Amino acid sequence: PLVPRPATPALPPRSVRLSVTDRCDFACTYCRPSRNDGYVEGRLLTSTWRTLLEALRAGGIRRVRLTGGEPLIHPDIVAMVGFIASLGFEDVALTTNASQLTRLARPLRDAGLHRLNISIDTLDPARFSEMTRGGRLAQVLEGIDAALAVGFAPIKLNTVVLRGQNDHELESLLLWAWERRMIPRFLEVMPIAEGARMVKQHLITAAEMRDRLAEHLLPEEAAVEPGLGPAKYIRSRRDPTLRVGFISGTSDTYCDTCDRLRVSSTGVLRPCLATDDGVDASKEAHAGDLNGILARLDEAWRLKPDGTVWKGCTEETAASVSMRAIGG
Ligand code: GTP
Ligand code: 5AD
Ligand code: SF4
Repeated sequence: PLVPRPATPALPPRSVRLSVTDRCDFACTYCRPSRNDGYVEGRLLTSTWRTLLEALRAGGIRRVRLTGGEPLIHPDIVAMVGFIASLGFEDVALTTNASQLTRLARPLRDAGLHRLNISIDTLDPARFSEMTRGGRLAQVLEGIDAALAVGFAPIKLNTVVLRGQNDHELESLLLWAWERRMIPRFLEVMPIAEGARMVKQHLITAAEMRDRLAEHLLPEEAAVEPGLGPAKYIRSRRDPTLRVGFISGTSDTYCDTCDRLRVSSTGVLRPCLATDDGVDASKEAHAGDLNGILARLDEAWRLKPDGTVWKGCTEETAASVSMRAIGG
């Protein structure tokens, strides 16, 4: 378990990733052990998410990203987006596998969603079905088209690159995304959840990915988007208005600039992606106790570890972290 830092973290919590459910209609090989993995579902209840969000706003959180599991499976998802927008958060974003977007792109846009990130690991239907254990690529592509059609732009894509599985698609994914003016992003597999078992054999570092794509990239230093997540971006050689992002969660750390709190689908406030520790605020949320939630938030933030926890993340320590309950 984490011990509190001797000093409070440099940054106050400013952004939150809210996992609304740990259920998912896919079971990506680096995330879940199987389709029927026997977990009891954790889902934010209608009676709790409003209070939680109000408290987070009062506590100085400025940006919200809804995640899962698969957030679009939560029955309240559109109402949640509307509520977040009405509270005046400056950024309202969501990360999805796109399986439900054909139906939900329009309502989400109308409810005030600003930004959409979409996970897609391959453009090959058979491999897609294998990597997601039964997902249908056609449904996801249709969902992406729907999101583009209602005006989400620029959409960011997340591709976890695995040696021997989808790494030969790096270039085709890049060009496919750029053709549609989306921002492809390539992720190192991280040693958490099922990914812990895959790092040794399948990790490709962001540096290697960059080398492989060099002919398409400007020879420049990769740059972050200030205030946003860990991705670093490089521009296209042919059209510098296009960019590609790299997320090096395994070969690099960015703990010093992390202002991110995670809320699990069971209402636990978690200070870091790399451990299972956190402070349960579900009772306070259920009771509508805003001040109680703020007190829990304070406790959770004081538990924020320094970068050594992440660096020490090994197969043994990290496999316990349930990615699907915290949404990455
Ligand atoms: P933007 O604000 O659009 O940049 O979004 P994002 O990249 O923060 O969100 P997204 O949900 O698309 O996450 C992409 C990947 O970044 C996921 O694999 C996350 O697990 C990873 N990621 C998010 N937060 C952290 C973090 O605190 N540390 C590390 N190492 N990786 C993270
Ligand atoms: N390593 C890297 N990325 C992961 N994701 C889920 N599990 C892992 C892992 N072990 C990604 C998903 C999604 C994002 C939110 O997190 O592919 O795009
Ligand atoms: Fe579902 Fe995302 Fe996990 Fe894949 S990585 S199983 S889409 S939660």
